[in-house]
Amino acid sequence: MSETTDKYSFGMIGLGTMGRNLLLNMGDHGVKGAGFDKDASKGALLEQESKHGNLKGFSDVKAFTESLSSPKAIMMLVPAGKIVDDVIAELLPLLDKGDILIDGGNSHFTDTNRRVEELEAKGFHFFGMGISGGEEGARRGPSMMPGGDKDAYNVMKPILESIAAKVDGAPCVTYIGPGASGHFVKMVHNGIEYGIMQLIAETYEILKTGLKLDNEAIRKVFLKWNEGRLKSFLLEITKDIFAYKAPGTDHLLLDDIKDEAKAKGTGKWTSQVAMDLQAPIPTIDTAVSMRDLSKYKETRLEAAKVYSKEAPSLDVNADEFLESLEQAYYFSTVITYAQGMFMLSNASKEYNYDLHLGEIAKIWRGGCIIRSEFLNDIYNAYNSNAKLSHLLLDAGVEKLVSAALPGARKVISSVIAAGIAAPSYAASISYFDNFRTGRMPSNLTQAQRDYFGAHTYELVGKEGTFHTQWVPKSND
Ligand code: 6PG
Repeated sequence: MSETTDKYSFGMIGLGTMGRNLLLNMGDHGVKGAGFDKDASKGALLEQESKHGNLKGFSDVKAFTESLSSPKAIMMLVPAGKIVDDVIAELLPLLDKGDILIDGGNSHFTDTNRRVEELEAKGFHFFGMGISGGEEGARRGPSMMPGGDKDAYNVMKPILESIAAKVDGAPCVTYIGPGASGHFVKMVHNGIEYGIMQLIAETYEILKTGLKLDNEAIRKVFLKWNEGRLKSFLLEITKDIFAYKAPGTDHLLLDDIKDEAKAKGTGKWTSQVAMDLQAPIPTIDTAVSMRDLSKYKETRLEAAKVYSKEAPSLDVNADEFLESLEQAYYFSTVITYAQGMFMLSNASKEYNYDLHLGEIAKIWRGGCIIRSEFLNDIYNAYNSNAKLSHLLLDAGVEKLVSAALPGARKVISSVIAAGIAAPSYAASISYFDNFRTGRMPSNLTQAQRDYFGAHTYELVGKEGTFHTQWVPKSND
């Protein structure tokens, strides 16, 4: 990027929490950054918080674009949807050919596809960049997943690498691939996030309802897990949540929070697109569905009056059970990651993204919401075999999964028998059992489809398709 001393080398549109913190992060790394927001107070806050005097806030978009060195690199951090198109339309007359626009929000990858085509046709570069890690990540080091024109990526690569989270000195950012590949990968990241969050919620239910543990005992379980092979951002924040008292009380804020989950939609998109790709992700699908089920509070309260005669409890040795539960959680999170990675490999072929799954796992090791110790195993698996058709077929992962399987079977079967809801645990082990058997009962499905719909079937060892008149035709 050509440097002229009075110009800013990076522009940020939208100085909300994420935009402001990303710019402050850039300022900490010597980047001269300009921020634009229609609300002038946000630009003023940016300059007030800037420690190095290299950040400036603008509330006039023309002055903002004129302050940038060429080619301009401008990131938009605005809510996904029509507003992204509105901001683009406002900016275009102020841009020069070769300038770079980056959408850092959680836009749907099909919207990004459209924007890439529209803007490339006009001589501009458009990037969809997944950014993960929330406010803390933006300020201290996010994981970033940029997709778009590779030459244009090289223009902003030094800035992105300077602000990214680092693991073993390596920045948690890499060029993901062409077009909307960056936003696609972020979407799948969020699907995995939903799946693991649901597994943690079900673990909470098993500990509370099954083992009758109190909040402090539950906190200690998550604290202990987070010190070992299960170490992860989501377990780290969960143990903190089990220590946070409602202000002025001696009970957890958690106990005052409604049990009706919300969602901005990225997990749902993952399930929708996975169905289109025929990439099965049942653990993630279940997580999305359970968020939906949680919304029907009144209906669930009615159902509780009708059905919940049984008082679920586990008649087990608690210490032994906790050992098995650790295995069950580890097993099920591995299955969740494996489903997500398989979806990425399908998408890479379907959309010609040329995804490098090892590199994606590598940049997920830090900064992002799904960061965990296990991502090192995923990185090693794909790094040693880029053509690995499924994570569960890696020799190292197979050993880890097989060792955790007995505990998973014991825990999942006993919690289901006790009447404790564990849908994502159940989906994980059933996905695994179908995946590992060479024969599924789908031949019966084929026969049924042919029986009632003459949809034909294929025969083992024979070419072609066949139809059977399963019952004699009636003469009337
Ligand atoms: C991240 C998060 C973030 C997302 C939140 C909200 O990677 O930092 O995924 O991008 O906005 O997770 O997601 P839901 O509202 O869909 O739970």
